[in-house]
Amino acid sequence: MKILVTGGAGFIGSAFVRLMLASDPAVRILNLDKLTYAGNLENLEPVASSPRYRFISGDICDPALVDRLLLDEKPDAVVHFAAESHVDRSILTPAPVFETNLRGTFTLLEAARVRRLGRFLHVSTDEVYGSLEEPLEASEDFPLNPSSPYSASKAGSDLLARSYFLTYGLPVIVTRASNNYGPYQFPEKLIPLMISNALEGGSLPVYGDGMQVRDWLYVDDHCRALRTLLEKGREGEIYNIGGSCSLPNLEVVRRIAAAAGLPASRITHVVDRPGHDRRYALSSRKIVSETGWRPQVGFEEGLARTIEWYRSNPGWIERVKSGEYRSYYQRNYLDRERELRDARRA
Ligand code: NAD
Ligand code: DAU
Repeated sequence: MKILVTGGAGFIGSAFVRLMLASDPAVRILNLDKLTYAGNLENLEPVASSPRYRFISGDICDPALVDRLLLDEKPDAVVHFAAESHVDRSILTPAPVFETNLRGTFTLLEAARVRRLGRFLHVSTDEVYGSLEEPLEASEDFPLNPSSPYSASKAGSDLLARSYFLTYGLPVIVTRASNNYGPYQFPEKLIPLMISNALEGGSLPVYGDGMQVRDWLYVDDHCRALRTLLEKGREGEIYNIGGSCSLPNLEVVRRIAAAAGLPASRITHVVDRPGHDRRYALSSRKIVSETGWRPQVGFEEGLARTIEWYRSNPGWIERVKSGEYRSYYQRNYLDRERELRDARRA
């Protein structure tokens, strides 16, 4: 099987490429990635020299490139990860989010329709359901209620993907996973940001009261679910993929501080994310009953593995935290905190 992976130099895409090449000797992977701030070829060093792997530098919004790739390479499937994936950045700078997540997805779908692709796995998120009151859980037919530019763009791209199935019969599957964590995650997201700050002995900036709830899914469990759906998923269907591990952010951060030997006083409550969703909760009954997939890595074990990985890879952290990351950190944390203080004084 030949798979075109988009965004394979990012966190989840690279985990999927590594998993597929390691677990299936018949698989060949083409990785199309623009290498934005979040794309990192170091994440693919373990597979870079494999004859079954090829990297293509390029933008999913480029119709000529995408069409050429499908025509020349004739992949059996596309697994579409490429996206602007961070909520806070989507609030600070929304334009690239809509460009990549909507126009990029449309460009891929259109080429897939013209070139009669065999399977299109569109990787999406539980954020499209919005914030849910206890004890609600979203199943796949739950209404879409996105809050941020990021989640609105993902909801839009899900609908686009579905429309290509309903209108043109393109064999699309949409997946919606909960919060992933694990090695190689860019340290703008909660868990790697807190781990890398903790390892430096820095402060741990929790938004608002920290009682927002997320469902944590170890990245390899997510990738195993995607592999299962490539094989057994039904065309035109949506599948939720949850970690069955709901925790308030503050609890997650407390565990990271404790594992790093930091006192709880390093946890600081900072200005909240605008439009911050309070609680995500997914039902994964459908994927479990149809395919038998289940998460295998519990949170305690997954977090320990993740902390150990960041501890053992200080060079990786140092390189991704240099340059652009510093100005993002300044804007999202220090400038917003100052703006709030100034507004209170005025
Ligand atoms: P990431 O930000 O780590 O990686 C995104 C990758 O896409 C990067 O390699 C980047 O260079 C590439 N990319 C961005 N724009 C591109 C473009 N225009 N053309 C080609 N490549 C481009 O993201 P991630 O956390 O690995 O998420 C991957 C996918 O999974 C996204 O679609 C995201 O919405 C979805 N998702 C993520 C999570 C999570 O917790 N991280 C959970 C559910 C779903
Ligand atoms: O739910 C799936 C989604 O999970 C994916 O679709 C997104 O791509 C991914 O970024 C993630 O979105 P979140 O906004 O939930 O993840 P993030 O790691 O940014 O934040 C998790 C929670 O932690 C959220 O409630 C905000 C909070 N937070 C985050 C950061 C970075 C903090 O309190 N402090 C922080 O510094």
